[in-house]
Amino acid sequence: MSEKPSKYYVTTPIYYVNDKPHIGHSYTTILADVLANYHRLLDVPTHFLTGTDEHGQKVQQAADANGITPQEQCDQTVVRFQELWKRLEITNDDFIRTTEPRHKTVVQQTLQELFDRDEIYKAEYEGWYCVGCERFFTEKDLVDGNCPECNRPVDKIIESNYFFRMSKYQDWLIQYIEDHPGFIQPAFRANETLGFLKNKELQDLCISRPKSRLAWGIELPFDADFVTYVWFDALINYISAIGYKSDEEQFKKWWPCSCHLIGKDILTTHTVYWPTMLKAMGVEMPQSIFAHGWWLTGRTKMSKSLGNVVNPMDMIDNYGVDAFRYFLIAEMTLGQDASFTEEAFVKRYNADLANDLGNVANRVLNMISRYCDGKIPAASGGGFDTALEDALWKETVAAAEEMGTMIGNMKLDGSVSMVMSAVRKINVYLQERAPWSLAKQEGTEAEVAHCLYTAAECLRVCSALLYPVMPEKMLALRTALGMADAKPHLGKLSEFGVLIPGSEISQPGALFPRIEVKKADKNVEQAFQPARGSKGQTGKSAPQKEKADGLITFDQVMNVKLKTAVVLEAEAIEGADKLLKLQVDLGEEKRQVVAGIALHYKPEELVGKTIVVVANLKPAKLRGEKSEGMLLAASIGDTLKLVTVEGEIGPGASVK
Ligand code: ME8
Ligand code: MG
Repeated sequence: MSEKPSKYYVTTPIYYVNDKPHIGHSYTTILADVLANYHRLLDVPTHFLTGTDEHGQKVQQAADANGITPQEQCDQTVVRFQELWKRLEITNDDFIRTTEPRHKTVVQQTLQELFDRDEIYKAEYEGWYCVGCERFFTEKDLVDGNCPECNRPVDKIIESNYFFRMSKYQDWLIQYIEDHPGFIQPAFRANETLGFLKNKELQDLCISRPKSRLAWGIELPFDADFVTYVWFDALINYISAIGYKSDEEQFKKWWPCSCHLIGKDILTTHTVYWPTMLKAMGVEMPQSIFAHGWWLTGRTKMSKSLGNVVNPMDMIDNYGVDAFRYFLIAEMTLGQDASFTEEAFVKRYNADLANDLGNVANRVLNMISRYCDGKIPAASGGGFDTALEDALWKETVAAAEEMGTMIGNMKLDGSVSMVMSAVRKINVYLQERAPWSLAKQEGTEAEVAHCLYTAAECLRVCSALLYPVMPEKMLALRTALGMADAKPHLGKLSEFGVLIPGSEISQPGALFPRIEVKKADKNVEQAFQPARGSKGQTGKSAPQKEKADGLITFDQVMNVKLKTAVVLEAEAIEGADKLLKLQVDLGEEKRQVVAGIALHYKPEELVGKTIVVVANLKPAKLRGEKSEGMLLAASIGDTLKLVTVEGEIGPGASVK
């Protein structure tokens, strides 16, 4: 694992309260939460701050549009954020609102101090202002007369204002960024800021607004006709919340911040304004500023002003909190943009969560129920070949170590996909070891126990690694594995033998029930069609001609050979959400049958069932897998049930 920091302080942007949160805001906050959870599991003292940006023109305008006061606008909207964070299981240690006295006091003290030290001065100002971005631009900055950031129209403004001497820090900042790789991340964003700093003369920053134009802000302590610029106010939240100028001990404990997480839309304010402000204040720089990309709808940024946002509450209602958190973390490569579609969501959910993780969990728990009396079995040291188990454990531990390094490097999507591949390896191992077959032989109890104990231990490790992303479901899984202290500790992760033999397991129910996709899947249709004479399975021979009345003859019925078959093994087929591959016993022979029943049955539910198979169907290939027969099932609407045979009839009996 990468080196453990002595403390971890992570922040999100404080969000504007002009409108309710959307997926973009959820993303940054979930990201911060995953990082905070991860560090807490490592026993690193952790502080996680989020909050709301409540001053400025945007909020004033929203209040005007809603016919309420700005404070009412803030009070009503802040609840939307707080409720969503609660719903999303966000574990922030603090929530700062910039209208709180604890923040306003620090902003005013800072302004006064900088004014007294001539870091702030008054001057006549002429420029262009973008309300959307709450930023001033010079004539040269504009692109086709519009805001260079968001392309919207700008307003011309001439007035007296106060300025922060930002320009004098230009050379210092360039040097600082160059001397501190990792200060701005990903590296290409550092280059972006450097490019900006090197190609343009940095201007002083206008940090005031005359009250005649905008009254909703923090009053300048040295001039009551002005309020301070919303960004000068907002950025200070990162230190006002942890006791800057009010609680030195607390401030020293958390500052410098380990990571300011932001979206790339606010790169300049965080990598130019903020560092120069801190420099002027004589405060240490944050350790890192990480700018992630945008969630897009199609090719455009998802944004309140563009009206193309996805409401996180809808996604949670439909698919659950943990699945939503998982998708956002797994789908976006940190730093890049990503497109949000429900289709991609369902696909990833079914593949990773229902098929891989949910399936392994169910298999392991079901087999412990069946073969070990519902109690965690004991691992035994030897007497048989444990090469497969040793290899599986080694791979799982390697995944845990690699994950630490990846998180240290902010490769969160990569770390999650690595754990998922460790999960799949448990599945592959089970397939190879086939404890269900082993259990049928005499004197194999110790071997079966060792197998299932190892699988359960590997599952325990994976559940700990995924806990920061899916806390609720992973706690449920760990509780099901019989852990009295279900909360994971990453320090203990790589010890083999944490699960206590004899502890009772429980069945958590389907952790990630499969999401039914309404659209017809061709493979599934194929899997069910052969007996009706599809070309795929009957080759060149023409389908049997039906009589005009739709009735068939006795002989035609007798041509179809139906036999009972016992399912020996069942497994999912990679890349085919709806297909299962079954090994069935037909009495005189064993066969492989591919069937489109994955939405209705879990592989382990099928093992041992006596089903009915069309035995004289011409073999075919489905998704590259040989299928020799077709099983019978009854279906209506979304429900499908296999035709099974009662009692002790066994395989190979003919069905008439
Ligand atoms: O900028 N994709 O607040 P804001 C990804 N108050 N992330 C997105 C996103 C998207 N489509 N849309 C928003 C402000 N975000 C200021 C911040 S900090 C001192 C002051 C996320 O409400 C992303 O983190 O406009 C982005 O930086 C932030 O929300 C902007 O939120
Ligand atoms: Mg914004």
